[in-house]
Amino acid sequence: MTQASMRNLTLDAAVADAEARFVAANPESQARYERATRSMPGANTRTVLHYDPFPVTLVKGEGAWVTDLDGHRYLDFLGEYTAGLYGHSEPAILDAIRGALEGGLVLGGPNKYETRLAELMCERFPAVDMVRFCNSGTEGNMMCLSLARAITGRDLVMVFSGGYHGGLYSFAGGEPSPMNAPIESVIAEYNDIDGATRLIAEHGPRLAAVILEPMMGGGGCIPADREFLQALREATERTGTLLIFDEVMTSRLAPGGLHALHGITPDLVSFGKYLGGGVTFGAFGGRMDLMARLDPRRPDALTHSGTYNNNVLTMAAGQAGLEKVFTRERVIELNARGDRLRQRLQAAADQRDVPLTVSGLGSMLCIHPTHRGPIRRPSDLAHVPYAARKLVHLELNMRGFQIARRGFMSLALPITDAEYDAFAGAFAEILDEHAQVFRGAA
Ligand SMILES: Cc1ncc(COP(=O)(O)O)c(C=O)c1O
Repeated sequence: MTQASMRNLTLDAAVADAEARFVAANPESQARYERATRSMPGANTRTVLHYDPFPVTLVKGEGAWVTDLDGHRYLDFLGEYTAGLYGHSEPAILDAIRGALEGGLVLGGPNKYETRLAELMCERFPAVDMVRFCNSGTEGNMMCLSLARAITGRDLVMVFSGGYHGGLYSFAGGEPSPMNAPIESVIAEYNDIDGATRLIAEHGPRLAAVILEPMMGGGGCIPADREFLQALREATERTGTLLIFDEVMTSRLAPGGLHALHGITPDLVSFGKYLGGGVTFGAFGGRMDLMARLDPRRPDALTHSGTYNNNVLTMAAGQAGLEKVFTRERVIELNARGDRLRQRLQAAADQRDVPLTVSGLGSMLCIHPTHRGPIRRPSDLAHVPYAARKLVHLELNMRGFQIARRGFMSLALPITDAEYDAFAGAFAEILDEHAQVFRGAA
């Protein structure tokens, strides 16, 4: 029996073999990781970046590529969980950041960049009459929820099982995270019209807001049905509950964000990631009358603070990105490429009769080894073994492609057609090598 066929006998054996090769190839990253365990819990300052046996340490990014401490180069198909849309060295963004740097940091007053970025976002996203900036998507969501609760005078919020709205408001395991902000929450099932509308009617008088992503990103790239979003819109209107779309990830999927693509207007929207041009970013916006409650000229003004809300680096980079790079045409083009890649990867699995589903929309994709068939909500994926995700991740890593351990990918503008082909080729190779393993684990 050859080495290759032996390691293909079981999923555990295939993973053990891949892990041994990964460890042997990354001594510098391993040493760095071990050193970091002494000063940061688990050598980590951002939970999602941890994977076993240890994550590679990255030292450089250039265009669509990143390089690690052991000198391996990876084509970056993770795209910093959607924040890396522009890649690592978009000239328009680097120029904007240099210009802002030369103009001085920490100015302590309104600056010219924020006005323009705010205008650009109001023009782009139909649900956004007015916008405010903050420092992360987490903060954007927290502000939406606080605003909704302050304005409605109600306390309860409805969320969806498996939803992720930042480290302080996560239902990723189907349950509220113990780290959540103390907001009483009722949990519904994604894409379940009857269940969700029943809960909205039942809790209506206490329900300040319903919050969801119009496609679950971290939850596995699971698109919402248009009818589901429409039913939520109508049900919340009946109870005077505010509808909040978390578009921290999904606003890149269509020229006006995913809410525009569906033709559904939420009351508030949160933003983050790429809209800061690759620099720390968050924002929230929405209906004029709601956002106007933050107007400091009003006697009943609500407060929204944050020292770095309008930091010049973010404001300048974000402005350059929207104005000069991620134009309407490029939004459409990038997402069309993503659709083609997703279909191509799915076809590769289907042709080989490998149980594996590639979910997503446009430039956001997620690979789910061992799963066949539709995915309506995160619990549909509960059976996927972690080891199967680990095998796909390590095999892609060792072929020079960066994706998330959980299979998540987001596409960056500088990735070329030849690089998409290279990814599809590596993916097909992994399917060929491990077809039996995935079938056995399904
Ligand atoms: C849908 C969604 N909302 C909110 C957040 C939180 O954003 P940030 O990490 O910028 O706080 C994320 C981050 O991954 C996200 O995916």
